[in-house]
Amino acid sequence: METIFSGIQPSGIPTIGNYIGAMKQFIELQNHYNCYFCIVDEHAITVPQDPLKLRQQTRSLAALYLAVGLDPEKATIFIQSEVSAHAEAAWIIQCNTTIGELERMTQFKDKSQKNGRTGVSAGLLTYPPLMVGDIVLYNANLVPVGDDQKQHLELTRDFVERFNKRYGQANQEILVLPEVKIAEQGGRVMSLQDPTSKMSKSDSNAKGFISMLDEATVIRKKIKSAVTDSTGIIEYDPENKPGISNLLSIFSAATGRPIDEIAAAYEGKGYGEFKTDLGEAVVDLLAPIQERYHALLVSDELDDILDRGAEQARLVANKTLQRMKNAIGLGRKP
Ligand code: TYM
Repeated sequence: METIFSGIQPSGIPTIGNYIGAMKQFIELQNHYNCYFCIVDEHAITVPQDPLKLRQQTRSLAALYLAVGLDPEKATIFIQSEVSAHAEAAWIIQCNTTIGELERMTQFKDKSQKNGRTGVSAGLLTYPPLMVGDIVLYNANLVPVGDDQKQHLELTRDFVERFNKRYGQANQEILVLPEVKIAEQGGRVMSLQDPTSKMSKSDSNAKGFISMLDEATVIRKKIKSAVTDSTGIIEYDPENKPGISNLLSIFSAATGRPIDEIAAAYEGKGYGEFKTDLGEAVVDLLAPIQERYHALLVSDELDDILDRGAEQARLVANKTLQRMKNAIGLGRKP
């Protein structure tokens, strides 16, 4: 059976972008693959975090993983910082990656441009090697992510090829070369306020995203105030009508109905009616998830699952880490 790894940062409450681009894929994939789903808290500290809040968000994300339907009997669910191999592997990977490669990452360029190079942590630059470590430690064949992670996956593949070539003996591969898997529909959910930029959980304008824990009234309001255009025609045309196209793809992801079918159903109708129905569709999608989430958050079950997850993860991750150390000559004994 092939292996899957993916992670989400506990840097805020996940948005429906995280759900549609990542979590929704996870639920289906857990039935067909050996899956590892991680709460990547070490990634979250590349930017300043309030310690109490970070801990809360980490637990909250774990509860959401379960609430959306991830099953600990089928998938290993764990917290990154509870498996020390991640930080160790990241060091080895950094030492086999050039600064030039890291400076080319668009996420780094965007964030460091905003705050200046002296205003961002070194971890922001070396974040992709930590992500490479996550993936290779579990011998992942496939990595389901949203479109914004594509470049990091390319870096991962380059690293694996280079590492295997440099340190593998007699064509024996040390690390598994992973493939990226991006959702066919909804790989890039856009902001409700600026449909030309990605919906993000760290957006300072809360009207731009729908958080998975937003209340029904808030969800309806945010959708009502989503930016569209003045044509009043409901059609999928991301280039010329990014706002309504984004809403159509959210509608499709929330209901499972194809975009064409939804657009046809609203032919001749106004944006108002469309937005009202979309609001209800998103509320219907999130209500049962939120109910399960609140029950899980106060249960002991959650901690048991995370303890077991970390234990299972350590077994696999430590083996790969040892293989990496052996290959490059760290320590006294293979
Ligand atoms: P993060 O926490 O920013 O996002 C988690 C997942 O959600 C996807 N995503 C989106 N998909 C569609 N539309 C959006 N607007 C949207 N916003 C976010 C992301 O692509 C991602 O799949 N570096 C990663 C976390 C990570 C990881 C890994 C992922 C760390 N190690 C190893 C895969 C494998 C990140 O910051 O995701």
